[in-house]
Amino acid sequence: IQKIAVLTSGGDSPGMNAAIRAVVRACCFYKVECIGVFRGFQGLVEGDFEPLGARDVNYIINRGGTFLKSARSDAFRTVEGRQSAYRNLVDADIDALIIIGGDGSFKGGMTFNQEFNFPVITIPGTIDNDINGTTHTIGFDTALNTVMEAVDKIRDTASSHKRLFFVEVMGRDAGHIALNSGIGCGAEEIIIPEENLGMERLVETLKKSKASGKSSSIVIVAEGEKLGKNVFELADYVEKNLPEYDVRVSVLGHMQRGGAPSCFDRVLASRFGVKAVESLLEGKSNFMVGLINDQVVLTPLDKAVKGNSGIDWDLLRISDMISI
Ligand code: F6P
Repeated sequence: IQKIAVLTSGGDSPGMNAAIRAVVRACCFYKVECIGVFRGFQGLVEGDFEPLGARDVNYIINRGGTFLKSARSDAFRTVEGRQSAYRNLVDADIDALIIIGGDGSFKGGMTFNQEFNFPVITIPGTIDNDINGTTHTIGFDTALNTVMEAVDKIRDTASSHKRLFFVEVMGRDAGHIALNSGIGCGAEEIIIPEENLGMERLVETLKKSKASGKSSSIVIVAEGEKLGKNVFELADYVEKNLPEYDVRVSVLGHMQRGGAPSCFDRVLASRFGVKAVESLLEGKSNFMVGLINDQVVLTPLDKAVKGNSGIDWDLLRISDMISI
Protein backbone atom coordinates (compact mmCIF):
# COMPACT_ATOMS: atom_id res chain seq x y z
CA ILE A 1 0.00 0.00 0.00
CA GLN A 2 1.55 3.29 -1.16
CA LYS A 3 -1.33 5.75 -0.98
CA ILE A 4 -4.18 5.96 1.54
CA ALA A 5 -7.24 8.22 1.23
CA VAL A 6 -9.18 9.45 4.26
CA LEU A 7 -12.66 10.96 4.49
CA THR A 8 -15.22 11.95 7.10
CA SER A 9 -18.86 11.12 6.51
CA GLY A 10 -22.28 11.51 8.16
CA GLY A 11 -22.84 13.77 11.15
CA ASP A 12 -19.64 15.45 12.34
CA SER A 13 -18.37 14.72 15.83
CA PRO A 14 -15.74 16.38 18.02
CA GLY A 15 -12.47 14.53 17.55
CA MET A 16 -12.82 13.81 13.84
CA ASN A 17 -10.06 16.33 13.13
CA ALA A 18 -7.82 14.60 15.67
CA ALA A 19 -8.45 11.28 13.87
CA ILE A 20 -7.61 12.79 10.46
CA ARG A 21 -4.41 14.22 11.94
CA ALA A 22 -3.42 10.84 13.33
CA VAL A 23 -4.07 9.14 9.98
CA VAL A 24 -2.01 11.74 8.10
CA ARG A 25 0.90 11.62 10.52
CA ALA A 26 0.91 7.82 10.75
CA CYS A 27 1.09 7.77 6.94
CA CYS A 28 4.09 10.14 7.12
CA PHE A 29 5.72 7.89 9.71
CA TYR A 30 5.35 4.83 7.46
CA LYS A 31 6.28 6.84 4.33
CA VAL A 32 2.91 6.31 2.70
CA GLU A 33 1.16 9.12 0.83
CA CYS A 34 -2.07 10.41 2.34
CA ILE A 35 -4.91 11.95 0.32
CA GLY A 36 -7.74 13.91 1.91
CA VAL A 37 -11.18 13.45 0.35
CA PHE A 38 -13.42 16.48 0.87
CA ARG A 39 -17.18 16.28 1.58
CA GLY A 40 -17.30 12.56 2.39
CA PHE A 41 -18.61 10.12 -0.22
CA GLN A 42 -19.72 13.01 -2.44
CA GLY A 43 -16.08 14.07 -2.75
CA LEU A 44 -15.19 10.50 -3.62
CA VAL A 45 -17.77 10.49 -6.43
CA GLU A 46 -16.53 13.87 -7.73
CA GLY A 47 -12.79 13.28 -7.19
CA ASP A 48 -12.46 16.14 -4.70
CA PHE A 49 -9.00 15.06 -3.47
CA GLU A 50 -6.00 16.86 -2.01
CA PRO A 51 -2.68 15.46 -0.78
CA LEU A 52 -2.18 15.91 2.96
CA GLY A 53 1.21 16.22 4.65
CA ALA A 54 2.18 16.50 8.30
CA ARG A 55 2.01 20.33 8.23
CA ASP A 56 -1.49 20.37 6.68
CA VAL A 57 -2.92 19.04 9.93
CA ASN A 58 -1.26 21.48 12.31
CA TYR A 59 -3.45 22.82 15.12
CA ILE A 60 -6.52 20.79 14.31
CA ILE A 61 -6.35 18.30 17.19
CA ASN A 62 -8.20 20.87 19.33
CA ARG A 63 -10.87 21.83 16.79
CA GLY A 64 -14.42 20.50 16.63
CA GLY A 65 -16.09 19.57 13.33
CA THR A 66 -14.09 18.19 10.42
CA PHE A 67 -11.87 20.27 8.17
CA LEU A 68 -12.41 17.70 5.40
CA LYS A 69 -16.16 18.54 5.66
CA SER A 70 -18.94 16.01 5.69
CA ALA A 71 -21.96 15.52 3.43
CA ARG A 72 -24.78 13.16 2.67
CA SER A 73 -24.32 11.73 -0.82
CA ASP A 74 -27.29 10.45 -2.82
CA ALA A 75 -24.91 9.79 -5.73
CA PHE A 76 -22.89 7.28 -3.69
CA ARG A 77 -26.09 5.30 -3.05
CA THR A 78 -26.24 4.53 -6.79
CA VAL A 79 -24.06 1.96 -8.61
CA GLU A 80 -23.00 4.65 -11.11
CA GLY A 81 -21.93 6.94 -8.27
CA ARG A 82 -19.84 4.21 -6.66
CA GLN A 83 -18.31 3.32 -10.04
CA SER A 84 -17.28 6.93 -10.46
CA ALA A 85 -15.79 6.91 -6.94
CA TYR A 86 -13.82 3.76 -7.75
CA ARG A 87 -12.53 5.24 -11.03
CA ASN A 88 -11.41 8.41 -9.24
CA LEU A 89 -9.52 6.37 -6.63
CA VAL A 90 -7.84 4.20 -9.24
CA ASP A 91 -6.95 7.24 -11.43
CA ALA A 92 -5.29 8.85 -8.40
CA ASP A 93 -3.35 5.61 -7.67
CA ILE A 94 -5.01 5.33 -4.25
CA ASP A 95 -4.75 1.82 -2.76
CA ALA A 96 -6.96 2.01 0.32
CA LEU A 97 -9.59 4.10 2.05
CA ILE A 98 -10.17 5.11 5.69
CA ILE A 99 -13.72 6.20 6.51
CA ILE A 100 -14.39 8.14 9.70
CA GLY A 101 -18.10 8.21 10.51
CA GLY A 102 -21.07 6.33 11.88
CA ASP A 103 -23.25 3.37 11.05
CA GLY A 104 -24.58 4.72 7.72
CA SER A 105 -21.08 5.55 6.50
CA PHE A 106 -19.87 2.06 7.40
CA LYS A 107 -22.68 0.51 5.34
CA GLY A 108 -21.56 2.62 2.37
CA GLY A 109 -17.95 1.54 2.93
CA MET A 110 -18.91 -2.12 3.17
CA THR A 111 -20.91 -2.03 -0.06
CA PHE A 112 -18.01 -0.29 -1.79
CA ASN A 113 -15.54 -2.89 -0.52
CA GLN A 114 -17.77 -5.75 -1.66
CA GLU A 115 -18.40 -4.31 -5.12
CA PHE A 116 -14.82 -3.36 -6.01
CA ASN A 117 -12.74 -5.37 -3.53
CA PHE A 118 -11.23 -2.05 -2.49
CA PRO A 119 -9.46 -2.08 0.91
CA VAL A 120 -11.49 -0.19 3.52
CA ILE A 121 -10.95 0.40 7.24
CA THR A 122 -13.43 2.46 9.24
CA ILE A 123 -13.13 4.56 12.39
CA PRO A 124 -16.24 5.15 14.55
CA GLY A 125 -16.90 8.88 14.82
CA THR A 126 -20.34 9.82 16.11
CA ILE A 127 -21.66 11.42 19.27
CA ASP A 128 -24.36 8.72 19.51
CA ASN A 129 -22.04 5.87 20.62
CA ASP A 130 -24.35 3.46 18.80
CA ILE A 131 -21.80 1.19 17.13
CA ASN A 132 -21.08 -2.47 17.85
CA GLY A 133 -17.44 -3.38 18.44
CA THR A 134 -16.43 -0.35 20.49
CA THR A 135 -17.34 0.88 23.93
CA HIS A 136 -16.64 4.46 22.82
CA THR A 137 -17.05 6.32 19.54
CA ILE A 138 -15.11 9.52 18.83
CA GLY A 139 -17.15 12.50 20.05
CA PHE A 140 -19.32 10.70 22.59
CA ASP A 141 -17.30 11.85 25.60
CA THR A 142 -17.20 15.47 24.41
CA ALA A 143 -20.95 15.46 23.76
CA LEU A 144 -21.54 14.11 27.28
CA ASN A 145 -19.49 16.93 28.76
CA THR A 146 -21.34 19.48 26.64
CA VAL A 147 -24.69 18.15 27.84
CA MET A 148 -23.47 18.04 31.42
CA GLU A 149 -22.32 21.67 31.36
CA ALA A 150 -25.61 22.79 29.80
CA VAL A 151 -27.75 20.84 32.26
CA ASP A 152 -25.71 22.10 35.23
CA LYS A 153 -26.67 25.61 34.10
CA ILE A 154 -30.30 24.64 33.61
CA ARG A 155 -30.24 23.15 37.12
CA ASP A 156 -29.28 26.59 38.51
CA THR A 157 -32.38 28.21 37.09
CA ALA A 158 -34.51 25.13 37.85
CA SER A 159 -33.63 25.27 41.53
CA SER A 160 -33.96 29.07 41.76
CA HIS A 161 -37.53 28.84 40.45
CA LYS A 162 -38.40 25.40 41.86
CA ARG A 163 -39.06 24.19 38.35
CA LEU A 164 -39.21 20.89 36.54
CA PHE A 165 -37.17 20.82 33.33
CA PHE A 166 -37.46 18.30 30.53
CA VAL A 167 -34.17 18.37 28.62
CA GLU A 168 -34.04 16.63 25.26
CA VAL A 169 -30.64 15.31 24.18
CA MET A 170 -29.47 13.77 20.89
CA GLY A 171 -28.58 10.14 20.23
CA ARG A 172 -30.79 9.22 17.28
CA ASP A 173 -32.47 5.94 18.39
CA ALA A 174 -29.96 5.20 21.14
CA GLY A 175 -30.08 6.32 24.77
CA HIS A 176 -26.34 6.41 25.53
CA ILE A 177 -26.05 10.19 25.68
CA ALA A 178 -29.20 10.48 27.80
CA LEU A 179 -28.25 7.72 30.20
CA ASN A 180 -24.66 8.78 30.84
CA SER A 181 -25.28 12.51 30.93
CA GLY A 182 -28.36 11.92 33.08
CA ILE A 183 -26.27 10.20 35.73
CA GLY A 184 -23.57 12.86 35.43
CA CYS A 185 -26.13 15.61 36.02
CA GLY A 186 -28.02 13.84 38.78
CA ALA A 187 -31.22 13.76 36.74
CA GLU A 188 -34.32 12.65 38.63
CA GLU A 189 -35.45 10.56 35.67
CA ILE A 190 -33.89 9.43 32.40
CA ILE A 191 -36.09 8.45 29.48
CA ILE A 192 -34.42 6.32 26.82
CA PRO A 193 -35.84 4.40 23.87
CA GLU A 194 -34.38 1.09 25.09
CA GLU A 195 -36.59 1.08 28.20
CA ASN A 196 -40.36 1.25 28.29
CA LEU A 197 -40.61 3.44 31.35
CA GLY A 198 -44.32 4.24 31.12
CA MET A 199 -46.02 7.52 31.93
CA GLU A 200 -47.28 6.32 35.31
CA ARG A 201 -43.80 5.57 36.56
CA LEU A 202 -42.60 8.98 35.38
CA VAL A 203 -45.41 10.77 37.21
CA GLU A 204 -44.80 8.59 40.27
CA THR A 205 -41.07 9.40 40.36
CA LEU A 206 -41.74 13.11 40.07
CA LYS A 207 -44.38 12.98 42.83
CA LYS A 208 -41.92 11.20 45.13
CA SER A 209 -39.19 13.63 44.23
CA LYS A 210 -41.38 16.60 45.21
CA ALA A 211 -42.53 14.90 48.42
CA SER A 212 -38.93 14.21 49.43
CA GLY A 213 -38.25 17.95 49.53
CA LYS A 214 -36.39 18.49 46.24
CA SER A 215 -36.60 22.04 44.99
CA SER A 216 -35.97 21.23 41.32
CA SER A 217 -36.21 18.28 38.99
CA ILE A 218 -34.49 17.42 35.74
CA VAL A 219 -35.77 14.77 33.35
CA ILE A 220 -33.37 13.89 30.54
CA VAL A 221 -35.20 12.66 27.46
CA ALA A 222 -33.41 10.92 24.58
CA GLU A 223 -34.63 12.25 21.25
CA GLY A 224 -35.54 8.71 20.16
CA GLU A 225 -37.67 7.97 23.23
CA LYS A 226 -40.60 5.67 22.57
CA LEU A 227 -43.27 6.70 25.06
CA GLY A 228 -45.26 7.76 22.02
CA LYS A 229 -44.84 11.41 22.93
CA ASN A 230 -42.26 13.98 22.01
CA VAL A 231 -40.61 16.00 24.75
CA PHE A 232 -43.20 18.81 24.57
CA GLU A 233 -46.10 16.34 24.79
CA LEU A 234 -44.40 14.62 27.72
CA ALA A 235 -44.06 17.94 29.51
CA ASP A 236 -47.73 18.81 28.82
CA TYR A 237 -48.85 15.45 30.16
CA VAL A 238 -46.86 15.86 33.36
CA GLU A 239 -48.02 19.44 33.85
CA LYS A 240 -51.66 18.32 33.55
CA ASN A 241 -51.18 15.44 35.97
CA LEU A 242 -48.93 17.26 38.42
CA PRO A 243 -50.23 20.85 38.47
CA GLU A 244 -47.98 21.62 41.43
CA TYR A 245 -45.03 21.60 39.02
CA ASP A 246 -43.92 24.60 36.96
CA VAL A 247 -42.66 22.80 33.84
CA ARG A 248 -40.22 23.95 31.14
CA VAL A 249 -38.67 22.24 28.13
CA SER A 250 -35.18 22.69 26.76
CA VAL A 251 -33.98 21.03 23.55
CA LEU A 252 -30.19 21.14 23.44
CA GLY A 253 -29.88 20.35 19.72
CA HIS A 254 -26.75 20.66 17.60
CA MET A 255 -24.63 22.35 20.24
CA GLN A 256 -24.02 18.73 21.33
CA ARG A 257 -22.10 18.06 18.11
CA GLY A 258 -19.75 21.03 18.35
CA GLY A 259 -16.91 22.33 20.45
CA ALA A 260 -13.33 21.38 21.19
CA PRO A 261 -12.93 17.63 21.74
CA SER A 262 -12.25 16.41 25.26
CA CYS A 263 -8.83 14.94 26.05
CA PHE A 264 -10.40 11.48 26.06
CA ASP A 265 -11.71 11.95 22.52
CA ARG A 266 -8.38 13.35 21.28
CA VAL A 267 -6.48 10.37 22.65
CA LEU A 268 -9.08 7.91 21.35
CA ALA A 269 -9.02 9.52 17.89
CA SER A 270 -5.22 9.40 17.84
CA ARG A 271 -5.17 5.72 18.76
CA PHE A 272 -7.87 4.86 16.20
CA GLY A 273 -6.14 6.82 13.40
CA VAL A 274 -2.80 5.08 13.91
CA LYS A 275 -4.44 1.65 14.17
CA ALA A 276 -6.39 2.22 10.95
CA VAL A 277 -3.21 2.99 8.98
CA GLU A 278 -1.27 0.12 10.55
CA SER A 279 -4.12 -2.32 9.82
CA LEU A 280 -4.15 -1.38 6.14
CA LEU A 281 -0.37 -1.75 5.95
CA GLU A 282 -0.74 -5.23 7.49
CA GLY A 283 -3.05 -6.10 4.59
CA LYS A 284 -6.28 -5.98 6.61
CA SER A 285 -9.50 -4.72 5.06
CA ASN A 286 -13.22 -4.50 5.82
CA PHE A 287 -12.71 -3.92 9.55
CA MET A 288 -13.61 -1.17 12.00
CA VAL A 289 -11.17 -0.10 14.67
CA GLY A 290 -12.73 0.12 18.11
CA LEU A 291 -12.02 0.21 21.82
CA ILE A 292 -12.74 -2.86 23.93
CA ASN A 293 -11.37 -3.24 27.48
CA ASP A 294 -9.19 -0.21 26.72
CA GLN A 295 -7.49 -2.04 23.85
CA VAL A 296 -7.79 -0.87 20.25
CA VAL A 297 -9.09 -3.88 18.34
CA LEU A 298 -10.57 -4.70 14.93
CA THR A 299 -14.14 -5.82 14.38
CA PRO A 300 -15.38 -7.13 11.00
CA LEU A 301 -17.39 -4.36 9.39
CA ASP A 302 -20.55 -6.44 9.02
CA LYS A 303 -20.63 -6.88 12.83
CA ALA A 304 -19.82 -3.22 13.48
CA VAL A 305 -22.68 -1.94 11.36
CA LYS A 306 -25.27 -4.18 12.93
CA GLY A 307 -26.77 -1.60 15.21
CA ASN A 308 -25.83 -0.52 18.64
CA SER A 309 -23.63 -1.85 21.34
CA GLY A 310 -26.54 -2.06 23.78
CA ILE A 311 -27.44 -0.08 26.83
CA ASP A 312 -25.62 -0.69 30.08
CA TRP A 313 -28.60 -1.68 32.21
CA ASP A 314 -26.53 -1.42 35.36
CA LEU A 315 -26.28 2.33 34.74
CA LEU A 316 -30.07 2.55 34.75
CA ARG A 317 -30.20 0.59 38.00
CA ILE A 318 -27.60 2.89 39.55
CA SER A 319 -29.48 5.97 38.37
CA ASP A 320 -32.75 4.72 39.86
CA MET A 321 -30.98 3.95 43.13
CA ILE A 322 -29.24 7.28 43.63
CA SER A 323 -31.53 9.81 41.97
CA ILE A 324 -34.02 9.73 44.89
O1 F6P B 1 -25.81 11.01 14.54
C1 F6P B 1 -25.52 12.23 15.14
C2 F6P B 1 -26.77 13.07 15.28
O2 F6P B 1 -26.42 14.29 15.87
C3 F6P B 1 -27.91 12.40 16.05
O3 F6P B 1 -27.72 12.43 17.44
C4 F6P B 1 -29.10 13.18 15.57
O4 F6P B 1 -30.27 12.41 15.63
C5 F6P B 1 -28.74 13.47 14.13
O5 F6P B 1 -27.33 13.34 14.01
C6 F6P B 1 -29.16 14.83 13.63
O6 F6P B 1 -28.89 14.89 12.27
P1 F6P B 1 -28.90 16.25 11.44
O7 F6P B 1 -27.66 17.01 11.78
O8 F6P B 1 -28.94 15.80 10.04
O9 F6P B 1 -30.12 17.01 11.88
